[in-house]
Amino acid sequence: MSKASPVAVITGTTHGIGRIVSRELARAGYAVFMLCRDVPAGAALGRELAARFPRARLSVLPCDLAQLASVRECAAALTAAAPRIDLLINNAGTVSLAPRRSADGFELTFAVNHLGPFLLTGLLLPQLAPQARIVNTASRIHFRAGRCTAAAVTDPGARYRSREAYARSKLANVQHTFALARRLESTGISVNCLHPGVVSTNLLPRWLRLLKPFLSAQVFDAERGAHTTLHLALDARVGGRSGLYFDEYQRPQPAAPLAQDVALQEELWQMSCDWVGLPRALPDLPVRH
Ligand SMILES: NC(=O)c1ccc[n+]([C@@H]2O[C@H](COP(=O)([O-])OP(=O)(O)OC[C@H]3O[C@@H](n4cnc5c(N)ncnc54)[C@H](OP(=O)(O)O)[C@@H]3O)[C@@H](O)[C@H]2O)c1
Repeated sequence: MSKASPVAVITGTTHGIGRIVSRELARAGYAVFMLCRDVPAGAALGRELAARFPRARLSVLPCDLAQLASVRECAAALTAAAPRIDLLINNAGTVSLAPRRSADGFELTFAVNHLGPFLLTGLLLPQLAPQARIVNTASRIHFRAGRCTAAAVTDPGARYRSREAYARSKLANVQHTFALARRLESTGISVNCLHPGVVSTNLLPRWLRLLKPFLSAQVFDAERGAHTTLHLALDARVGGRSGLYFDEYQRPQPAAPLAQDVALQEELWQMSCDWVGLPRALPDLPVRH
């Protein structure tokens, strides 16, 4: 790998927003590590991007965010392959329509959208470069979330509602961002989160995608839906800004009151560390003012 190439790690590259963001990172000259659960699909995208950007450095790594062991294996592979990471984009996301459990027994939507990325981020922190950026893809739906309880995460049952579960997982993305930003304050590493807009991808219900031609002002295609992620990842004006929630027009906005509650952020941080098996305190990171 060329020493000059900055290194980006991104999850969920095989469809939707992540596919577009991966392409733009390759275009921008990043060595891109594309983390996906469907490795043949990731490899196909890698070949497509390599044909388009012959000088791009692209690697595909298996990472199923629904399995903490897979996340740990992926982080170990990255430790060997990319000792210095400049950009980490937690983009992958899902919504489980029925109450299902992850490989580790947690409610599946929360496991994929929060616990997997929480573990991946925690494991990669020691490898993050000075001035590195972390971008967490949340959603405006976090405004609709109720407080996260341990029971909802460990015991999804008859009262399961997919919309509530998805909103809760996206609230966790914002709370994680704010709690981590506080911890990274003196390190030079930034972490921000975003709502990409309502974007016509696999995640949206099919009926809403079918209505897209009639709703073009409200529903973005994936190209447009990638704008805020790319802004937070690449735009020089974001440098040094951390602990913020951005809307689909790249504007920092107040997050929901529950997301801003520091006690709740800390409660989630501690529960998440215990659930994924990380120490509650961060490893020692170099201080940079
Ligand atoms: N679309 C919207 O309107 C909208 C609105 C707000 C926020 N978001 C957020 O935007 C992000 C990107 O979503 P999208 O709209 O681009 O949806 P998408 O087209 O469904 O893409 C989601 C990506 O996540 C991957 N993924 C799902 N489960 C995974 C797992 N267990 N392990 C690893 N990867 C997994 C998918 O992999 P496969 O290709 O293997 O399925 C896919 O590559 C998500 O965080 C989502 O919550 C989307």
